[in-house]
Amino acid sequence: MRRLLILFGIALTLSAQYQNSFKITWIEPGSNVILPEFDAFDNSNGTLGVLNASGPVNTEGHPFFTALGSNKRACVNCHQPTYGMSVSAASLLDRWRATDGKDPVFAAFDGSNCPSLPQDKESSHSLLLKRGLYRIPLPWPPRKADGSPKKVEFTIEVVRDPTGCNTSREYGLQSAQPTVSVYRRPRPAANLKYVLSGGQPIVLKTGLLADVDPETGKPVSMNLMTDAREATLKTQAISAVLGHEQARVVPTPQQIDRIVQYESQVYVAQMAHIFGGPLAVPGGPAGLGVAALRDHPAGVLGDNESDPVFGLFTAWKGNDYYRSSVARGADLFMNRQFWIRDTAHINSIGLGNPLKRTCATCHNAQMTGQDLSAGWVDVGTTNFPTWTEPNTWAESSELPVFKITCSRDADPHPYLGRIIYTTDPGRALISGRCVDVGSIVMQQLRGLSGRAPYFANGSAKTLREVVDFYDRRFDMKLSDEEKEDLINFLGAL
Ligand code: HEC
Ligand code: HEC
Repeated sequence: MRRLLILFGIALTLSAQYQNSFKITWIEPGSNVILPEFDAFDNSNGTLGVLNASGPVNTEGHPFFTALGSNKRACVNCHQPTYGMSVSAASLLDRWRATDGKDPVFAAFDGSNCPSLPQDKESSHSLLLKRGLYRIPLPWPPRKADGSPKKVEFTIEVVRDPTGCNTSREYGLQSAQPTVSVYRRPRPAANLKYVLSGGQPIVLKTGLLADVDPETGKPVSMNLMTDAREATLKTQAISAVLGHEQARVVPTPQQIDRIVQYESQVYVAQMAHIFGGPLAVPGGPAGLGVAALRDHPAGVLGDNESDPVFGLFTAWKGNDYYRSSVARGADLFMNRQFWIRDTAHINSIGLGNPLKRTCATCHNAQMTGQDLSAGWVDVGTTNFPTWTEPNTWAESSELPVFKITCSRDADPHPYLGRIIYTTDPGRALISGRCVDVGSIVMQQLRGLSGRAPYFANGSAKTLREVVDFYDRRFDMKLSDEEKEDLINFLGAL
């Protein structure tokens, strides 16, 4: 029976791909299309829904869809509705082939491993084509709001430099403007009311004051970007235009407002499964589909039995093969306990180490599964020895490796001490603090089926690899059925 279902699934995938070739799935800047209020795009798991809650969007002249800088790029290049307002690595490879590497998405500045490499070669864009990673150049040391350098607790050395960018005289740490290049996935520019909710004056994890919105002075959620470096969607949009789009002038307030308006009304979620059928159905789980994201209140903590993270899945506990698997996956996510161990900003904040809890302990915000408080945690993806790169030094890491040496008077990283090897120091590149090395702000867990690979460093090619990482990292001892249930659940979000 299983095999039959799988075959049926494959047949549907093929027909879905066939249909896809007749539909615009890649929006180019300036293509002047009108986006409908509701649209649907096939992916290998089923169909992703995209909802423009304020009605159809005319992209003509719209600053999200128009190149505002010098490299012909717009926001939409890296935040495509088809791919959950992010982009998948597979779609980038298609794009490379279709345009012979000329699409502006491959611009030398951050669409290649390093701008100094020969740009017509596929290998110069390998991190983007294989893992969907863009170069994120960050100043070192980090700067305060007034532009002066922040005091930092550690030094950074480059131990491996496969892209050449961190040791480059022009772009690296020794250049005239010392820069650290890390490589990260685009985070979905959708469902953002949830990402922005939950700002508290003091950050629970650090006991320090939260960043504030520069216009209102109110504390912000600190859940934007891999390292929470942007306070608001406005500051983020300005940085993106000056950075990714390489603009020489700051966008106008009107342009910024239109970008933020658009981003704030677009919702993405998986809406149908390839053989399980529609996901958002009357009487079904109330958290699935885009309308639920539009209608639900933001800022609600979901780590409780009665009103859990993605809603109750009881309606799907039955005989249907796929639906009951998703419901079991939801149960596992909420209730399957395991020992969370040596995780900075979870085990180190007085909860105990190890701590017997669940996925939802960290992924606790309703509807998106981010952390409701400022969400940076060192779950182990970027720091040696738990990182997702090959473990032995002889094997080559595709990512740069940095050696962090913390000063004697700084609080050390709670589990790794004062010398840490990492592929991305994460939050520490902004805070300058040793305890933050390797802490990554959780992404929202929506539209996952449309935007592989996963984790900020694109190291998990599939949801199975995500689940395998947790199984290994926390010695969960998941059975094959439990893994499949978790994967089906994550794929339905
Ligand atoms: C070249 C690709 C690229 C372009 C162009 C681009 N982005 Fe992004 N975007 C990214 C990457 C990569 C990240 C994650 C960076 C990080 O976490 O350090 C990101 C993150 C974001 C986020 C954060 C979402 C979250 O949950 O943290 C928002 C919002 C966003 N971009 C909006 C925009 C807007 C608006 C524009 C146009 C002004 C834009 N982006 C242009 C690649 C791009
Ligand atoms: C100790 C806190 C913690 C626990 C427990 C935890 N996560 Fe995560 N999760 C994170 C952090 C932090 C990230 C971001 C890591 C990165 O990108 O490198 C993340 C990222 C993810 C992502 C990637 C999302 C994306 O867009 O790339 C998925 C999927 C995920 N977690 C699922 C799970 C599941 C399923 C479980 C339970 C088996 C779980 N998590 C348990 C902290 C946690």
